[in-house]
Amino acid sequence: MDRILIRGGRPLEGRLAIGGAKNAALPLMAAGLLTEAPLTLENVPQLADIDTMASLLAEAGLTLERGGRRFAIGGRITSTEAPYDIVRRMRASVLVLGPLLARCGEARVSLPGGCAIGTRPVDLHLKGLEQMGAEIRLEGGYIDARVRGRLRGAEIVLPFPSVGATENLLMAATLAEGRTIIANAAREPEIGDLAACLVAMGAEITGIGSDRLVISGVPALHGATHAILPDRIETGTYLCAVGVTGGELLLEGGEATHLAALIRPLAEAGMVIEETASGLRARREGRLAGVDVMTEPYPGFPTDMQAQFMALMAVAEGAAMITETIFENRFMHVPEINRMGARINVHGASAIVRGVAALSGAPVMATDLRASVSLVLAGLAARGETIVNRVYHLDRGYEALVEKLAGCGAAIERITG
Ligand code: UD1
Repeated sequence: MDRILIRGGRPLEGRLAIGGAKNAALPLMAAGLLTEAPLTLENVPQLADIDTMASLLAEAGLTLERGGRRFAIGGRITSTEAPYDIVRRMRASVLVLGPLLARCGEARVSLPGGCAIGTRPVDLHLKGLEQMGAEIRLEGGYIDARVRGRLRGAEIVLPFPSVGATENLLMAATLAEGRTIIANAAREPEIGDLAACLVAMGAEITGIGSDRLVISGVPALHGATHAILPDRIETGTYLCAVGVTGGELLLEGGEATHLAALIRPLAEAGMVIEETASGLRARREGRLAGVDVMTEPYPGFPTDMQAQFMALMAVAEGAAMITETIFENRFMHVPEINRMGARINVHGASAIVRGVAALSGAPVMATDLRASVSLVLAGLAARGETIVNRVYHLDRGYEALVEKLAGCGAAIERITG
């Protein structure tokens, strides 16, 4: 299995390009199931998760024409089943449920299993679809959903603003009969991107960007061309990278608009981040100071930045309290960073990080995507050699991570085999 070898202690200097947002690309690809006409997506990142979604669409019978970062998705649906073998690779596979059911009146989607960062049920997706008239049975590890005729508009109040449930219900509602209201909807920018594309496909949606989406169902959608927004989590990850190493980076195509909740504590800690015409420029001045953060649904501090921010705080001056409110088990990077000399204690949903002057390199192993990248950041900060195992987690969500960092002066390489 591939590993990443890092010799830490070098500042990052230079520029790197930010790709399209993985978490927008996945639901946008699933939206290709809503119409036979081609949906063309631009700025699609090259990632393992994107390949997984492509396999699901191919399994449904769609054709995908890939030309670099451009994807044309279209064709007739010949199967409404999302098999276990593909779904088990990626939880976001469940995003095909709403579109398949709305379009074909039936869907059989493997239940995404437990996940390293928490139990992550899909009950909110299922309850919302039931409110829209679907009959749902759970059998043999599969979600079996069907509806007679079209789904019907409903007033759905989400008890928690789940990103995936909002996306699934939004897509399903575009083809339902009548009006659907999704109240307490998640407001993540990726949902706004999906909604904008659906509107370009002929959907009628108001309240985009708010926590109350109102969808007037239409009988059919048509094709469209849509460019995916830049990845705010990839941007934030590189902001933290230059924070741990020092130096100065220009993140080409990176935008501050959707990152206020991260840029605020980074600036408080002592980083200088400026918007330029070509992207975000970031540098560290002196040693950073500890700053407390708490993860929350958007526009709060993103849970997908929690591990990277912790790596940064591990080498800051003073203490930081990091509280995780979205997932119940998202501190698995803590024992690994501690093996590199960090001083982090977890108390329930909070981690107290007491900054140390330097980390020391070590072999480490991670259990999920963002935890893995936090170990890469810790390795960049550490003295000596760090080996990060289980690189396949990184391949799911970071395009050309090693090349991008090496291009800015990091001593980092991938060891294959
Ligand atoms: C999405 C993101 C993921 C991010 C997360 C939170 C994608 C592909 N993934 O995941 O990177 O970390 O948002 O910002 O966009 N929940 C339920 N029942 C449900 C659905 C969710 O209890 O039916 C709970 C989950 O267990 C979790 C919380 O709600 O504790 C947040 O989950 P959700 O917002 O749905 O995250 P995802 O869409 O899975």
